[in-house]
Amino acid sequence: MGSSSIHGAICLLFLLAAVAEAQWHVWNVKKYGAKGDGQSDISQAMMSAWKEACASPSPAAVVIPPGNYMAGPVKFIGPCKAPMMVQVQGVVKAPADPNKFKQDGWVVFQYVDHLTVSGGGTFDGQGTTTWSKYSCGRTGKCPVLPINLRFDFVTNSVIRDIHSLNSKSFHVNVMGCKNVTFQHLTITAPENSPNTDGIHMGRATGINITDVKIGTGDDCISIGPGSRSVTINKVTCGPGHGISVGSLGRYQNEEDVVGINVRNCTLTNTMNGVRIKTWPASPNGFASDMHFDNIIMNKVSNPILIDQEYCPWNQCKQQVPSRVKISQVSFRNIRGTSATQLAVKLVCSKGMPCQNVEVGNINLQYIGKEGPVTSHCANVKPILTGKQIPAIV
Ligand SMILES: *[C@@H]1O[C@H](CO)[C@@H](O)[C@H](O)[C@H]1NC(C)=O
Ligand SMILES: *[C@@H]1O[C@H](CO)[C@@H](O)[C@H](O)[C@H]1NC(C)=O
Ligand SMILES: *[C@@H]1O[C@H](CO)[C@@H](O)[C@H](O)[C@H]1NC(C)=O
Repeated sequence: MGSSSIHGAICLLFLLAAVAEAQWHVWNVKKYGAKGDGQSDISQAMMSAWKEACASPSPAAVVIPPGNYMAGPVKFIGPCKAPMMVQVQGVVKAPADPNKFKQDGWVVFQYVDHLTVSGGGTFDGQGTTTWSKYSCGRTGKCPVLPINLRFDFVTNSVIRDIHSLNSKSFHVNVMGCKNVTFQHLTITAPENSPNTDGIHMGRATGINITDVKIGTGDDCISIGPGSRSVTINKVTCGPGHGISVGSLGRYQNEEDVVGINVRNCTLTNTMNGVRIKTWPASPNGFASDMHFDNIIMNKVSNPILIDQEYCPWNQCKQQVPSRVKISQVSFRNIRGTSATQLAVKLVCSKGMPCQNVEVGNINLQYIGKEGPVTSHCANVKPILTGKQIPAIV
């Protein structure tokens, strides 16, 4: 290739990049009075920019340029006329005082189709003072605290290159959404921060979580009732409570969980690895087609866990079996270290034993010295393929 044709190719690349840019009409919050001075509240500027962008007949981007901003509760509500982007390049901080919130979300997206949230910026929930004021981790009675990012009934969307920091409650909540990809996110809160789940979903279909780094004080990812066709790939988790389906069966009229694929994940120093948990004395429910493959455990306390007697804070009738039926589950290619002797625990419901639970190649070593690594199964006859350490009994 001669230098002129290289030059031509480079020109073409720039042209293509410029065209890609040009498709998005930009609404910069600075034009709506936002100052990046770390003091003034930009929620009104954000919402005014959104309102005008949302009415635009062509793809519209609300841009928060580099800088430090404060923002109270913000709601981005659709439907909009065209695809929407919120590009956060700066650091946006929530008020530290939870009394400034009348709703359970800080930055809320509702009824938006074709949304992109990106930009490399940070949503800082400033939860530190809130966590120390409430003892909800011990009592299970948590006040309603705002979730950093709420997605309600958002469809065909991509959330990427965003940092969620120190949320007061869950970091990301996904409710009633369809076809949403979360890619290349970083989610951070300290190990001792209560109820700060990384990503929680419920009544959601086609959720794809790829290349996400989560360290937090509760579940890294929790998959609630009504989740279907969920892909979790290349997630690192720790500290935190692991990747969890459930809890299920706590409330009446919960929807089923079907089609969960967790692959290529690494969990480090977490309380659990991969688990499915349901409450005793539950209404009838159904969870099936859940697969965990190619997972690395580093000093994880309960690496592989099905717990149908999940009853924290003794809030339930533990003697009455769970009526959530669990079937078509596989744990394959799971290796690394366990921080407790009991590395595999599959405790299903005596009222509704689990069906078609496969345990494939697993190799988990106990890091302590009290004895060999062990397993425990109840009300399930696992189908064994490949080799298992510990032996499944
Ligand atoms: C899912 O969302 C993506 C991103 O907006 C879009 O490109 C894709 O067409 C959607 N898929 C379906 C089946 O609608
Ligand atoms: C999930 O998203 C990633 C990144 O966009 C993509 O490569 C992958 O194909 C998606 N997987 C599914 C099952 O949609
Ligand atoms: C994920 O793991 C599977 C094996 O479970 C492997 O075949 C695949 O290449 C991995 N994919 C990525 C994107 O790492």
